[in-house]
Amino acid sequence: MTAVTGLRAELRADALGVGTAAPRLSWRLEQAPEPAEQAEARMVSADGSSSTVPLVAPDGVLVDWPFPELVSRQRVEVSVRALVAREWSDWSEPLAVEAALLEQGDWSEPLVVPSAAAVHELRPSHLLRAEFTLDEAPASARLYVTAQGVFTAALNGGPLSDEHLAPGWTSYTHRLRYRVHDVTAMLRAGANVIGAELADGWFRGRIGFDGGLWDVFGEHVGLLAQLEVTDAQGDTRVVPLGDAWRQIPGPATRVGLYEGESYDARLLPDGWLEPGFDPSAWRVPQLRPVVEIGTVLEAAVGEPVRPIESLRPVSVEKRPSGRLRLDFGQNISGVLRVKADLPAGRTLRMHHAEVLENDELGTRPLREAPSIDSYTSDGSGPFSWAPRFTIHGFRYAELEGWHGDLADVDVEALVIHTDMERRGWFACSDPMLEKLHENTVWSMRDNFVDLPTDCPQRDERMGWTGDIQVFAPAAEFLYGADGVLTSWLRDVAAEQGSDGWVPNFVPWVECGFPRGASAAWGDAATIVPWTMYQRRGDLSILREQWPSMKAWVDHLALRVGPGGVVEGSMELGDWLDPAAPPENPAAARTDKYLVASAYAVRSARIVADTAVLLGDLEAEAHYRAFAERVAEATRRRWFEDLASIADAPTALALGLEFGLVEDPDARRRLGDLLAAAVREGGHHVQTGFVGTPIICDALASSGHLDDAYALLLQQECPSWLYPVSMGATTIWERWDSMLPDGSINPGGMTSFNHYALGAVVDFLHRVVAGLAPSAPGYREITVQPRPGGGLTSASASHLSPFGMIAVSWELADGLLALDVEVPTGVSARVILPDGGVHTVGAGAHHYSAPMPAAQKEATR
Ligand code: BGC
Repeated sequence: MTAVTGLRAELRADALGVGTAAPRLSWRLEQAPEPAEQAEARMVSADGSSSTVPLVAPDGVLVDWPFPELVSRQRVEVSVRALVAREWSDWSEPLAVEAALLEQGDWSEPLVVPSAAAVHELRPSHLLRAEFTLDEAPASARLYVTAQGVFTAALNGGPLSDEHLAPGWTSYTHRLRYRVHDVTAMLRAGANVIGAELADGWFRGRIGFDGGLWDVFGEHVGLLAQLEVTDAQGDTRVVPLGDAWRQIPGPATRVGLYEGESYDARLLPDGWLEPGFDPSAWRVPQLRPVVEIGTVLEAAVGEPVRPIESLRPVSVEKRPSGRLRLDFGQNISGVLRVKADLPAGRTLRMHHAEVLENDELGTRPLREAPSIDSYTSDGSGPFSWAPRFTIHGFRYAELEGWHGDLADVDVEALVIHTDMERRGWFACSDPMLEKLHENTVWSMRDNFVDLPTDCPQRDERMGWTGDIQVFAPAAEFLYGADGVLTSWLRDVAAEQGSDGWVPNFVPWVECGFPRGASAAWGDAATIVPWTMYQRRGDLSILREQWPSMKAWVDHLALRVGPGGVVEGSMELGDWLDPAAPPENPAAARTDKYLVASAYAVRSARIVADTAVLLGDLEAEAHYRAFAERVAEATRRRWFEDLASIADAPTALALGLEFGLVEDPDARRRLGDLLAAAVREGGHHVQTGFVGTPIICDALASSGHLDDAYALLLQQECPSWLYPVSMGATTIWERWDSMLPDGSINPGGMTSFNHYALGAVVDFLHRVVAGLAPSAPGYREITVQPRPGGGLTSASASHLSPFGMIAVSWELADGLLALDVEVPTGVSARVILPDGGVHTVGAGAHHYSAPMPAAQKEATR
């Protein structure tokens, strides 16, 4: 019997506090023999009345809200049923959907601003406390809460949530996100206490590289907490807390995101979260009317950052220095949790590093991010402590000041990132390739800490646009990244200049990096939303980003010189081409203006295609003409006489993959030249940020699958598998972040956790395993495994908007056995190595086909 499952509003399974009056609905069909013909939704309101309406689309992919728009705080229950094969399914489990505060005027509580000296050095946290009385226990209660800074909060002693670094990082001058918590069960009749601890985070303190900048968003932190209670009659009121707030410096004596957290347990007042505590020694904080905050308060989209799993050390060792070294066996983003018992006043220090060098913590790559936490005991007995206001990228940690036995060490590493749903998996017969895939998954996890960052460890951790631009397809396959990316794209749009300029990282921090927007970086403004539309079928992301997408291409038009190609602009080019010297990563083999022109074509074509989808035909004509003009000039400038690019694999791959060369003969020549260059390079990687994500596709699609595999499976440096052979557990920033002799690359920019070069996993999914989308949202897929490289099996599965898609193949005795599982609503075109083509719908399908002789040879 067909079942409607996984109902979501705005992609949220927990739809408490959605920030829109018309949240879109998504669901999946289970056990459906065919796609739904119709679907309807039923809404039950708080007063028990209900209405049932037909839905505009029965497919369950972000279907428009069919009811009257919600007003702030309105809570309804929604269920969906589908008509399949002329039979109505049962109603789905109801989903509670509750609107957040949709109008800025809904906020009446002030921002609570603890006073503190405006100094450019690490500051302490602040404790904030307010006591209030309720005549009766509320029938329901909500806390709408955010901060300028980062915070934790508690009600009557109970923690509000397990979020880490709430409210995360946005372009605070434009947007500040809040979350809504159901606190009904935490309140009681009589005296109640709300408490919070507030620290600098990204808002204040030091962020950015080359010394960074202090207090980028403001000189004072503040907490905004609006508590609303509803009585049994359904009347809702704000509990006025304003005048009740009191402040003192918190137990975190010095806190910085890069520096770490120093905590002195002796400074935490006993009973401060209990009613009746005497706060007379506390100060009265400043209260700033919410209208003065000068930013838009926005309900968070997507899931929060929280501890996702905890790792135990794989080894613990006492060092000659007396320190205890812990190896967690995996490079992560997170913090330690230490359980211990220390005498009063004794301090335990925690040092972090990604790698060892000369058998010591390799901290040089952290640059100006010391990443040291400390805990000073109050001697009251065993404690369990984890820092709350910092985060580190590390695999190794050392404890300084530990005096107990090795056997008593009770330390875990909390893996902390945005709590995204896992959606994609890959496996194959080659353990090294599997490890490359796993390392990429880890680098994604470690860098999706509220926004897509370059790295989680050094004095950077910025939303570098180029990194996510190349990684977006992989990210969309592996995890439900929509919340992180939707929020971040809003910042991209918010920070875009009036001339369409896109900062090289967002939020932008003016710490000395050139302001000019680089190709492949700024193109995130078009390519990331386009990828989200392709992979999730979400047209509204294009609608939302449309002005930003167009503005970027308008900006590119300003950069086209008299020769018709991009010229004279600041460009990072094919960043980190292994031929570039450590101190100049932009010095690549491929002309940076070829890269810039190719990307201008790609972005302009995306904008033209988007215009078609949005029904703006005038815009389509305009951007199409621009794209083709630049494409033609680029072709003439670089792709007629190929001699100038013959030894630049990135240039050749761009010609093929970005559709700069269309004539079949010319494409064949380009493919042959590319294969020759790759062979000439001994199947070592010769590409940087731009070429690396596309080179295997360029080889495979131009008839050189064997070379793609040889490149993919290369283990000597530079290659994807070289780091794996060196024991990497994440993707490195440089091909040789660690040199073969075990020393760390001398370049000042050397991270062991950058996802960008892991973008190749998208090739593993689409080509090696053979699971590729061919229409937005995986509504249509192409299943065409391309075995090679000696692999005897591979598989990929993906939780698409329609349900799980799985492809898996095995090769034995020249026969390919292929299994394909297709969910209802998806049509699969299966292309077998012997040329057989089958178009199939939902169900499990099995095929067996002989491998053609040439490919049999290649897979031996
Ligand atoms: C970042 C990169 C980024 C690059 C561009 C680096 O410092 O870590 O990932 O894209 O700068 O300049």
